[in-house]
Amino acid sequence: MQKQKFTFEYLQYDNREEIPHKYRELLRRAEESLDFSYAPYSNFQVGAAVGLENGEILIGSNQENAAYPMCLCAERSVLAIAAHLYPHSAPKIMAVVGAKKDSLIAPCGACRQVIWETEQRYGRKIELLVQAPHGGVLIFESVGNLLPFGFSGSDLK
Ligand code: THU
Repeated sequence: MQKQKFTFEYLQYDNREEIPHKYRELLRRAEESLDFSYAPYSNFQVGAAVGLENGEILIGSNQENAAYPMCLCAERSVLAIAAHLYPHSAPKIMAVVGAKKDSLIAPCGACRQVIWETEQRYGRKIELLVQAPHGGVLIFESVGNLLPFGFSGSDLK
């Protein structure tokens, strides 16, 4: 028996002023997408923005349904939009924010799996910016760090 250990590093910025300029436009676009959120049931608006290799930035937000399990998260919305508009341009960075600024908006398990699949599909990591409470942001180099031993197409072979 061997005991193994999994660790990873991530960046934590505690307020907006600390966040490097190169990330601010993406965060701004994610915030803009909150206006399109449809969240009458949870009243928890989530917005996401994705930066593609071709330079485009796309936005998506959560879209809820009276049949609760049908609710679509912001992360999966924006990745579906990207797959349709620019199927040949790899997503390289994603930002996720919420209207409630005191919340951590870490992707749910389903979204982690879908972001992970997108990384496999395009063969590149997607840097992930996550809203931390009170103006902060956490930055992960890949969703793989949030999904240890993630299942992917290569496991089916
Ligand atoms: N939600 C997202 O869109 N992304 C997340 O990362 C967390 C949760 C949505 C789903 C649902 O519409 C609402 O937030 C409350 O769970």
